[in-house]
Amino acid sequence: MAKRAQKKQATSRRTRQPQKKLSDLFHETLKDIYFAEHKIIKTLPKMAKAARSRELASAFTKHLRETQGQVKRLDKIFRMLGKPARGKPCEAIIGITDEGAEIMRDFKGMPALDAGLLSAAQAVEHYEISRYGTLRTWAKELGMSDAVQLLQATLEEEEATDHALTELATSVINLEAEQEKMLEAA
Ligand SMILES: [Fe+2]
Repeated sequence: MAKRAQKKQATSRRTRQPQKKLSDLFHETLKDIYFAEHKIIKTLPKMAKAARSRELASAFTKHLRETQGQVKRLDKIFRMLGKPARGKPCEAIIGITDEGAEIMRDFKGMPALDAGLLSAAQAVEHYEISRYGTLRTWAKELGMSDAVQLLQATLEEEEATDHALTELATSVINLEAEQEKMLEAA
């Protein structure tokens, strides 16, 4: 086929497709994070149960309560869009939580377990911070000021959790080093 004819066919194929806009991207990403939050709600109790440090366990439990509130905020945004609150499988969060599950399995009962749990939890937080930051920017662009406020509130909770986990990391790693020394000496 001549180049010009090929180009014409490609153009007509493109024009036949419905135009997807920023609002569609916003809705798709909302479904993605909705799935992610539900996955996190299932994972956090397992992480709290596995944690050796009481402080780490209570940080996970606190974030579980926050996450339940974050889902309610997402429910509100779906209502604003006039769409059903529904998630779609998000491969990124499945991969991150699978890695966390692997750490829980491989380091069960070992001093390094908490350091591993922290790293998995921070990977989750960083993913969420990225998604909520993007969603907030898009909501602003779309003129959805109520959604901006809800997304901002969640973003601040995720950032605060990330900071709390960073603080905990130092004490957890120190404790882990001490326990490993004791095990070596025994
Ligand atoms: Fe969250």
